Amino acid sequence: MQLSLAGRHALITGGSKGLGLAMARAFIEAGARVAIVARDAATLQAAAAETGATPIAADISTAEGCQAAHDAAVAAFGQVDILVNNAGVSQHGRFTAVSDAVWQADLDLKLFAAIRLARLAWPGMEQRRFGRIINVLNIGAKAPPAQGAPTAVSRAAGMALTKVLANEGAPHGILVNALLVGIIESDQWVRRHAADPRGLSFDAWKAEQGRNVPLGRIGKAEEFAATALFLASDAGGYITGTALNVDGGKSPVV
Ligand SMILES: NC(=O)c1ccc[n+]([C@@H]2O[C@H](COP(=O)([O-])OP(=O)(O)OC[C@H]3O[C@@H](n4cnc5c(N)ncnc54)[C@H](OP(=O)(O)O)[C@@H]3O)[C@@H](O)[C@H]2O)c1
Repeated sequence: MQLSLAGRHALITGGSKGLGLAMARAFIEAGARVAIVARDAATLQAAAAETGATPIAADISTAEGCQAAHDAAVAAFGQVDILVNNAGVSQHGRFTAVSDAVWQADLDLKLFAAIRLARLAWPGMEQRRFGRIINVLNIGAKAPPAQGAPTAVSRAAGMALTKVLANEGAPHGILVNALLVGIIESDQWVRRHAADPRGLSFDAWKAEQGRNVPLGRIGKAEEFAATALFLASDAGGYITGTALNVDGGKSPVV
């Protein structure tokens, strides 16, 4: 089966690196026009040059940044059919060590950006009777671990948001799903490896990270992108309101 996004226009936040970049590649290969959003202009330009995506420099942790990102995508394409709320950074620690400022920043980037961008894209999707919203979360949304704050809490809220929007969007052809990431190779993991003082090779380090994953390895960004492509395409037309683990079996809950 060939998955096609021909004629579709996608906005992917955090599209300059890691999972977002892999989704941009996959969506463009499937025929979509894609806009990618990130803050660092140089990385964004490099990603755009490599993939053919339209770069949009914006900080989506603010209402103004979300508005600017959405406006730029509409200026480029005229519409947003597929919204992927993917930008995020890992934030966790002992509960008592997480300040109000950290909680707020986490909620702004991971929850409010998804709320604001969905609200901006929604009227056009409703009018055209077609929309796909994919919220990239993590497996802590279903199974919050100790020291998982604030991320696990923001992500659980993202799962509730997914369900609310799926129920509201269904009569209008707007399908909304969440993808819950376990450990998937990305720039984030390159940075974590670089910060590990033990000096392991990247391959040895990745093997170590994957040891407790039932499939025995960490995931590839392309595998994640293929799942997102399926949901964005017509092949995923009967799936909405779902939070799917993309984690090699790592999550303790289904
Ligand atoms: N990879 C994993 O194993 C894993 C596990 C659990 C959850 N996740 C989630 O999956 C998503 C993608 O992760 P990744 O591993 O691909 O991360 P990554 O490699 O670090 O990429 C993050 C992307 O988000 C962008 N970004 C960050 N803050 C932003 C902001 N305020 N405004 C606009 N763009 C922003 C970054 O670009 P700039 O820095 O230039 O803005 C970059 O393009 C994230 O939400 C992450 O939390 C990933």
